[in-house]
Amino acid sequence: VRTDRGQAEALDLADPLSAYRERFVRPDPQLIYLDGNSLGRLPIDTGRRLAEAVDEQWGRGLIRSWEAWIELSQAIGDEIAAGIVQADPGEIVLSDSTTVNLYKLAAAALDARPGRRVLLTDDDNFPTDSYVFQGLVQARGLELRVIETDLDVGLSTDAVRAALDQDVALASFSHVAYRSGAVADLHGVTAAVHDVGALVLWDLSHSAGSVHVPLRSSGADLAVGCTYKYLCGGPGAPAYLYVRRELQDTLRQPIWGWFGQRDQFAMDGRYDAAPGIGSFLVGTPPVLSMIGVQEGVRVVAEAGLDAVRAKGMALTSYLVDLADAWLVPLGFRLASPRDPRRRGAHVTLHHPDAWRICRALVERYDVVPDFRTPDRLRLGPAPLTTSYADVWDGLDRLRRLVEAGAHEAYPPQRTRVT
Ligand SMILES: Cc1ncc(COP(=O)(O)O)c(C=O)c1O
Repeated sequence: VRTDRGQAEALDLADPLSAYRERFVRPDPQLIYLDGNSLGRLPIDTGRRLAEAVDEQWGRGLIRSWEAWIELSQAIGDEIAAGIVQADPGEIVLSDSTTVNLYKLAAAALDARPGRRVLLTDDDNFPTDSYVFQGLVQARGLELRVIETDLDVGLSTDAVRAALDQDVALASFSHVAYRSGAVADLHGVTAAVHDVGALVLWDLSHSAGSVHVPLRSSGADLAVGCTYKYLCGGPGAPAYLYVRRELQDTLRQPIWGWFGQRDQFAMDGRYDAAPGIGSFLVGTPPVLSMIGVQEGVRVVAEAGLDAVRAKGMALTSYLVDLADAWLVPLGFRLASPRDPRRRGAHVTLHHPDAWRICRALVERYDVVPDFRTPDRLRLGPAPLTTSYADVWDGLDRLRRLVEAGAHEAYPPQRTRVT
């Protein structure tokens, strides 16, 4: 393995996606940003589109602009289906937050399997998913069955199969684990859940825009995901939800609002669910944020998922090679799958002092990763916006920091946001 910077520069020269870095705002050339898996960078086109939407559509057009805005949730959902995940038009809409969509879809799925008492998930799922499920089972007197998952290895299809029985109404997991980046077996798990007659709900927050998401070929029933990570939609941008076409008219989500009403402006007093995916909408969406999502989705779709996935595997493999050479001797351990096909686009390293190292990296070395409990440093070199040289520089600064003991000056107390 070559660890000289020249190797990184050669890889950048051969990178078919290298030009995409210039499509994003980079005001600070010193900064090594390794947190694109938490908040994606700002596409240059987004600033322009938002300025136009504010000045022309809102400022000049005022209420008349709703003609252009009213179908945006579906239109952007279709763009996600066409360019980001494997789904058909009319199966995805932009709506609410990931958390609220989890509630809507999980509640609809539980209602669709009356008499079954169990919601199945695992203990490595993202906390908000688990909280929503705890609330749902408590309100309905059901049971939350929780599989144990190895934090570094990811969801085991065998463990899922062993936990399934005729009592399970719904099983829900993350496609790419937020901590380790492990990729779950979307096909195998979906098939196992279907074998017992249950429905499956996937959280795609860390996978859409970083790995292939074969919703159609796996037969997955339901999915949700956020747009502010690899889709570069911006902070707090609305999430999306997916409902397999055959289920759309039998599942009924619990929050009945006028954006889910069949003839919204008839102002009829009685709720009558819109046909298709429209019934999964609720209330007025955040239009400006949706426009941010549309631009982010367009940049990723233009680059193409095949190229994005190929670079994600190559870039994280390069990162793992450098970590093996430089960081393992300093007390780090790989806390992600070693096989790039089993790993999303981020890599996690275990170190007992991960929190203080993370602080020192951000504050003294101009490298931005993030920290995840209990003792992990998460490095997200988003494929569209990160170069091989960025990875080299980031890891070089990290090794120099730890060699110098620079983290020892930082207090162990965590900040409000990690
Ligand atoms: C897997 C996963 N689900 C959900 C969320 C957050 O949900 P929300 O957008 O509702 O805050 C995150 C945020 O990082 C996530 O990683």
